[in-house]
Amino acid sequence: MRIDVVSIFPSFFDVLEVSLLGKARGRGILDVRVHDLRDHTHDRHRTVDDSPYGGGAGMVMKPEPWGEALDAIVADAAASPTLIFPSPAGERFTQSLARELSTREHLVFGCGRYEGIDERVFEEAARLGEVRLVSLGDYVLNGGEVAAMAMIEAIGRLIPGVVGNPESLVEESHEDGLLEYPSYTKPSSWRGRDVPPVLLSGDHGRIAAWRHDQQVERTRARRPDLLPAESVDAEE
Ligand code: ADE
Repeated sequence: MRIDVVSIFPSFFDVLEVSLLGKARGRGILDVRVHDLRDHTHDRHRTVDDSPYGGGAGMVMKPEPWGEALDAIVADAAASPTLIFPSPAGERFTQSLARELSTREHLVFGCGRYEGIDERVFEEAARLGEVRLVSLGDYVLNGGEVAAMAMIEAIGRLIPGVVGNPESLVEESHEDGLLEYPSYTKPSSWRGRDVPPVLLSGDHGRIAAWRHDQQVERTRARRPDLLPAESVDAEE
């Protein structure tokens, strides 16, 4: 997969060189290219923002540098990309959206700052590929960079070959609509706390049933919004 990132803080993405994604880049599974939006300005101050038409607080990112930056990326791409703009006003980022995006050949992340990007940039970008405004959650970050990093990690680890043992992707939180079950390792007793005896029983049927019960119980306690309404009501 090819991933292009456009940001006024390209060094934010230096961490993509370490850990599993760094290894995937080294092995040629992931081709990540980070671009400085200011390289597409033409004034002495490398200006990327201006005051909003209609008034209001804050600054808006100007369309011209964005238009140039996105055109340059697409000019040098084989396939039509999916363009993702992290935004608190976007659709919610979920595991199922991560899975969907992990099948794309080319993703472009446009990281806005300030009060956002001139709306016409999204309309223009739609001429280049599918445009998605995507929110990490119902809170506001200072810009799209941290959100893009989180999405790149969630998407990248689903690409075949990035995570060494693909089975470890199956039993995770959100893959089956439930939170994951609790995990334990040696020693079996630590500071007076014992590992649940069923896990030492060797009875795989009982272990699977116990883990499923734990998943349902945790999901009900921490994230009842993930359960069908009738199953939550039934417990009350
Ligand atoms: N930019 C600012 N806040 C954000 C959020 N919650 N999700 C995605 N991008 C953002």
